Amino acid sequence: MSRVKSFPEGFLWGTAMSGFQVEMGRGPVDPNSDWFKWVHDEENIRLGVVSGDLPENGPGFWELYEEDLLRARKELNNNAIRLSIEWSRIFPNPTFDVPVRVVYDRRGNIERVDIPKSSMDELERKADSSAVNRYREILKKARELGLEILLTVYHWPLPLWIHDPIECKHDLMHAEKKGWLNDATIIEFAKFSAYIAETFGDLVDLYATINEPIVVAFNGYLNPESGFPPGLRDLSLALKVLKNLAIAHGVAYEQIKLWDRISVSKYGPATVGIVHCPQAIVPYDAKSPKDVRAADLWRYSWNEWVLNAVIQGDYDMNLDMIIDPEEKLPNLVKGCDYLGINYYMRQRIRCVEKRGSHPIYGIEIAPCEGDCTDFGWEIYPSGMREILNWAYRKYRRKIIVTENGIADASGEKRPRYLQSHLEELYKAINEDGIPVKGYFHWSLIDNYEWAKGFKMRFGLYRVDYQTKERSPTKAVELYGRICERNAL
Ligand code: BGC
Repeated sequence: MSRVKSFPEGFLWGTAMSGFQVEMGRGPVDPNSDWFKWVHDEENIRLGVVSGDLPENGPGFWELYEEDLLRARKELNNNAIRLSIEWSRIFPNPTFDVPVRVVYDRRGNIERVDIPKSSMDELERKADSSAVNRYREILKKARELGLEILLTVYHWPLPLWIHDPIECKHDLMHAEKKGWLNDATIIEFAKFSAYIAETFGDLVDLYATINEPIVVAFNGYLNPESGFPPGLRDLSLALKVLKNLAIAHGVAYEQIKLWDRISVSKYGPATVGIVHCPQAIVPYDAKSPKDVRAADLWRYSWNEWVLNAVIQGDYDMNLDMIIDPEEKLPNLVKGCDYLGINYYMRQRIRCVEKRGSHPIYGIEIAPCEGDCTDFGWEIYPSGMREILNWAYRKYRRKIIVTENGIADASGEKRPRYLQSHLEELYKAINEDGIPVKGYFHWSLIDNYEWAKGFKMRFGLYRVDYQTKERSPTKAVELYGRICERNAL
């Protein structure tokens, strides 16, 4: 019999979800976000930019949260859950006029936002109380059940009053609501983060400021094929967005630390990190110097850039892999208590003919040839160990695996995916000494997979989108056993 492989005491076992992807389907529809507008846009649907599936036909977590949380607790034996709050539900209308003091550095970057108590009161008046109440009920229920909450403040949709993706796609020059391209979005994000921390601080101790800034920036501004808003292809825009997201993390970090003063667990009052999605990246042909260079550049851009900014203050704005003196901005480093790592796959990188002046335009991710998910992502378990080692050795932060999972409509591949990735996680902790504090599987239930809609099924529970019924896939029993024993 093989030896029991135990995880550290107090290890967090959970599942991860995001608001936009699960909430709608029952109860009020939230039409006030850029993503909502984007996936409803007729041209986007006609051109196949998005699937045509609509989030209002989703799993309905807004109404069915209690049964889902019970599944997580009682069937999966989870002790934690990762959820997010939709900015556009809390603030369907602008918060621009709520006064704050903004401190700029000598280069004009936003360095700090000071929010007086009177402005917090004003935010309270502006917040949609029914949305706030429902989020409180969801979070309260999670706590009551003994689920530690990891709350993501921003998991992608922006309120429409901040970002109109259709306007930006068609005429960025004249667009008014430019989302993360606008520095003002950082200021509004500071207000939103402060409000979240003050409002939910008695229920939450573990926060993630931003989910996967690189996906927001690169999918939205470099890779229109991804179907992400606003569907542009311009490296300088992508880097501007990435820079603003890195600054936004810091600003939000400070606000959360300031406004959540209540401890409800050992993570209290507030442990604040960022969620990033480094992948295992290799050249397609290791003997081709061009592929090797392309893989190096992609690894640097995708895996490192944003953490170099958040943790080291290195903002490589021309992406030449060299930090010039004016790209060093240590004044923007505010803190990051842990790194949230979403690990999914290996990417094999090929150098192809360029479509633009920077070498990044010559990078192509080769299609998966081996063991692939429904999404066409390569299943590569040892990448888990590799990435955890890299992340810890380079950035020296404790780590939480905030996502890992598989699009697998059949449900047949998921148990093997789960087991093999957890084996690698175990090795990272026990053989390599990497301080990983928890694992959140993506996802509890099938959900709205952004531009791809409902076809990609990541749920441990399958959702029937007609009846909203959930049924366990084969991996439920396995994951439930692992979490109960805290061991493989
Ligand atoms: C995101 C999720 C997404 C998942 C699967 C992650 O990049 O955080 O929102 O559903 O991957 O694609």
